[in-house]
Amino acid sequence: MAGIGYWGSKHVRTMRSLDSVSRVVVIDPSEERVAKLRHSFPEVDGHPDLESALPHIDALVIATPPSTHADLACAAMAAGKHVLVEKPFATNLADAHRMVDTAAEREVVLMVGHTFEYHAAVWALREMVARGELGDLYYVDTARLNLGLYQHDVNVLLDLAPHDISILNYVLGSTPTSVECWASRHAHRRLEDIAYLRVRYDEPHIEANVHVSWLDPCKVRRVTVVGSEKMVVFDDLESEERLRVHNKGVTQPEESGDLSLPPMSYRYGEVVAPYLVVNEPLALEDEHFVDCVLTGMRPLTDGHNGLAVVEVLEAAQLSLKERREVFLEEVRRGSTSLARLRQPAVAHSREAV
Ligand SMILES: NC(=O)c1ccc[n+]([C@@H]2O[C@H](COP(=O)([O-])OP(=O)(O)OC[C@H]3O[C@@H](n4cnc5c(N)ncnc54)[C@H](O)[C@@H]3O)[C@@H](O)[C@H]2O)c1
Repeated sequence: MAGIGYWGSKHVRTMRSLDSVSRVVVIDPSEERVAKLRHSFPEVDGHPDLESALPHIDALVIATPPSTHADLACAAMAAGKHVLVEKPFATNLADAHRMVDTAAEREVVLMVGHTFEYHAAVWALREMVARGELGDLYYVDTARLNLGLYQHDVNVLLDLAPHDISILNYVLGSTPTSVECWASRHAHRRLEDIAYLRVRYDEPHIEANVHVSWLDPCKVRRVTVVGSEKMVVFDDLESEERLRVHNKGVTQPEESGDLSLPPMSYRYGEVVAPYLVVNEPLALEDEHFVDCVLTGMRPLTDGHNGLAVVEVLEAAQLSLKERREVFLEEVRRGSTSLARLRQPAVAHSREAV
C-alpha cells in the first residue's frame, strides 16, 4: 500500500479484512503516519519508499498524490508487481500510456480505482439505460460539490471529475467524442477550484453536464439521467433511497397552430426507489483486484479504462486552456498543444537535427 493518508488508510482497512491477503505492507515517507497506523495495526510493516518495500510485496495499491502515480506504478510493474492505481489514473495522457504499455510488457495486472464502477446504484443505473427503461435519453447532469479537501498537485477537475467521467462511460457503455470545460480559481492561487464540463457522446447521442467544486457550501453527490419516459436520480448521500426513478415527463402536443393551447403537456407519476444491496464499493474493488492478481483475470476497471478517463481529462484541460470544444480524436492523435509541450526534450532535439 503506497500512501496511507485519507484514502490509503481505508484501503489498508479493507485489504486487512481479506482472507486472500496474507500481509499488508505500507509505504509512506511520513514516519508519523506510518507510526500512527502501526499503533492501530501492529502487524502491518512500514517502509519509507517503494524500493525498500519491493522485496516484500506481490502487488501494490497506490493512493499517493496524483502526480506520483505513474512513476510509482511503472517502477512497481517493472519489478513484476501487480498494481491498482487510485483515481486520477494519471495527470496526463503520456503517463497513462506509459503505465498501460508497462503492464502489457511485464504481463502484470494494472487496475484503476474507479470506485463508482463497483457501486450497486451505478450498476442499476446502467441496467436501466441498457434496457431502454428511461425512453430516449435526453441528457445527464452530475454534481460533486463540497467545501472539499484541496489537493496540492491537481485542480478540482483532475481530483473529482474522474468519478463522474467513469460513471458516464460505464452507464452509457461508451466514451465521449468531445469535451468543453470552464473552470476558475477563487480560494487557491494556482489551482482551479470549480469546474464545469460538457461532455458529448455520439453513441448514444447525448450530452452530459458535469459540475465539480471544492468551494461550495453544500455537499452534493448526485447524478441525474433524464429520458423521455423516466428520470433517475442517484444521490450517494442518501443512505436508504440512493436511486429514485421518477415516472415524470414532458411532451410537446401535436402542432395545431393554435397558440392559445399550452405548449407542453406534463406527466406526473410515481417515484420508485429500487431496493439495492449496496456493499462497500471500495471493499468490492480491493477484493476484485486481489482476485485478478491471483487468477490473472483482466480487471473490470483495467488500465484502458483508466486511460479512457485520462483522455477526457486531457481534452478538458486543453479546452480550458484554448477556450474551445476539444475532440477526443485530437487528444488521441497527440497533436494538441498540451501533448507537444509535454514531449521529452530529447524528442525536440531530434526534430531540431
Ligand atoms: N476512489 C476514491 O473515491 C478516492 C477518494 C479519495 C482520494 N482518492 C485518491 O487517493 C489518492 C490519495 O488521496 P488522499 O486524499 O488520501 O491524499 P493524502 O494527502 O491524504 O495522502 C497521500 C499520502 O501519500 C503519501 N506519499 C506521498 N508521496 C509518496 C510516495 N512517493 N510514496 C508513498 N507515499 C507517498 C503522503 O505522505 C500521504 O500520507 C489520490 O490519488 C486521490 O485522488 C480516491
